[in-house]
Amino acid sequence: MDAFNLLKADHRKVAELFEELEAANGKAKLQVFEQIKTELELHTHIEEKIFYPALEKPRETHDLTLEAYEEHDVVKKLLKELSKAKSATDEWEAQAKVLRENVEHHVEEEENELFPKAESALGEDKIEALGEQMAAEKERKQGRTATKSSGAKKSSGSKKSASKTKSASTAAKRARTSKKSAAKSGSKSSATKRSQSKKSAAKKR
Ligand SMILES: [Fe+2]
Repeated sequence: MDAFNLLKADHRKVAELFEELEAANGKAKLQVFEQIKTELELHTHIEEKIFYPALEKPRETHDLTLEAYEEHDVVKKLLKELSKAKSATDEWEAQAKVLRENVEHHVEEEENELFPKAESALGEDKIEALGEQMAAEKERKQGRTATKSSGAKKSSGSKKSASKTKSASTAAKRARTSKKSAAKSGSKSSATKRSQSKKSAAKKR
């Protein structure tokens, strides 16, 4: 699977969940939100670990990639805030709407601007390889979450996770190296935060 198809499928899934969120009431709303949170966390994880590091270096994708990291940070903060709620109040609904708008903007920018530039910067083979790595990382993560929360039913296209873990850890190494260059040129505070969170992510592994 190429990287674009994988990420676009994630985008569509989250868009559907946002529709469900709008239609849901009471407790069900919070349950749909939990699904959105799980999906977005997994999605941002594979992008930040595998996809974005590959896009930081090329000139044509550099700025958009740094912007994408920043947008992820905003989404993560909103997810954190929203997940504190015990019930879906009007304020919660308002914040959920802001989350949706942020995600929609980010998706649009990725699909319409970043992906075409990524294709010309990296070429088809690399895009394919990144897709394989992200699919493998997704499965690895999902396997871990499935043992924690038995309720969440997961599905994924590829079943070749074991053979891909090596390339995923190579990507992680690359991610850490290219973080340094991002910290130099990106906004200082969040770039630093990112590299800190990379470190703690690396520790968890
Ligand atoms: Fe993203």
